[in-house]
Amino acid sequence: MIRMRRLRVNEEMRSLVRETSLEKSDFVYPIFVIEGENIKNPVDSMPGIYQYSIDRLGEELDRVRDAGILAVLIFGIPAHKDETGSEAYCDKGITQRAVRYIKERVPNLLVIADVCLCEYTSHGHCGLIRDGEILNDETLVLLGKMSVSLAKAGADIIAPSDMMDGRVEYIRKALDQEGFYHTPIMSYSAKFASGYYSPFRDAAHSAPAFGDRKTYQMDSANGKEAVRECKNDIEEGADIIMVKPALAYLDIVKEVSQQTACPIAVYNVSGEYSMVKAAAQNGWIDEKRIVMENMIAMKRAGAKIIITYHALDVAGWL
Ligand code: PBG
Ligand code: ZN
Repeated sequence: MIRMRRLRVNEEMRSLVRETSLEKSDFVYPIFVIEGENIKNPVDSMPGIYQYSIDRLGEELDRVRDAGILAVLIFGIPAHKDETGSEAYCDKGITQRAVRYIKERVPNLLVIADVCLCEYTSHGHCGLIRDGEILNDETLVLLGKMSVSLAKAGADIIAPSDMMDGRVEYIRKALDQEGFYHTPIMSYSAKFASGYYSPFRDAAHSAPAFGDRKTYQMDSANGKEAVRECKNDIEEGADIIMVKPALAYLDIVKEVSQQTACPIAVYNVSGEYSMVKAAAQNGWIDEKRIVMENMIAMKRAGAKIIITYHALDVAGWL
């Protein structure tokens, strides 16, 4: 008889044949930075997650460092929003100041800067708008400016999440022109229009004021298109590609990992986090077990990098 159970007999045997493992270096922890002073605001829809003002960011950075996490993803929430999202590409913007602060305080912590306009625009869309249309090429210019401004502030990786066409190529050129040819681009390549982002939109004050993001983010029904998006971004010069959300899209992660050779990141997004937290708070599931099972699933599907709000907990459990 073929006895599969021979290799499951005890933990030593199981470890010996285990195919996938998690390392602290796999994880990226997202941080929300808000304008103001002495602020540590809990995000109601994301238990354990806070918005910090820059003067309070230190305590969160200490937790990140103590956990052994090597990279953070920064989202800035400006006090002032306008039609063109001008604080996004202002050298004194909230995100630029946060990046500068982090690089001064913890120089070896990798800072990944999310590049998108939705937190900065009064209408909450990821691009410029004319007559109700989200403009592609006009938006690229602003994304290029934002990327350069964040690289100047010290960002180690630029991560465009807007889903405009051609942005990776545009941003790559803009960075190179300013001498940032060593700054990698981590592109949100296959980013789906998803209901899983709603807690994030509370946290980042970035919900669209009208309509939805379906004319730029992907249709969740499409797998082949996701492969195309990823391949396009690699051709345009992306150094790391991303699939987002994670858990409902692991088929995409697997497919992309088989069809490309670029490191793959997954974004285990806010809604995925909050669902686990809510069930755990009700005592319906064992949080640690469920979280670790989710993490190994993302890794097994082919992701190298996992962006997750669970990162500090996971690092503590490893
Ligand atoms: C902004 C952005 C979003 C997320 C990351 N960057 C939200 C959106 O597209 O509406 C979602 C992250 C999360 O849900 O945790 N472009
Ligand atoms: Zn956006």
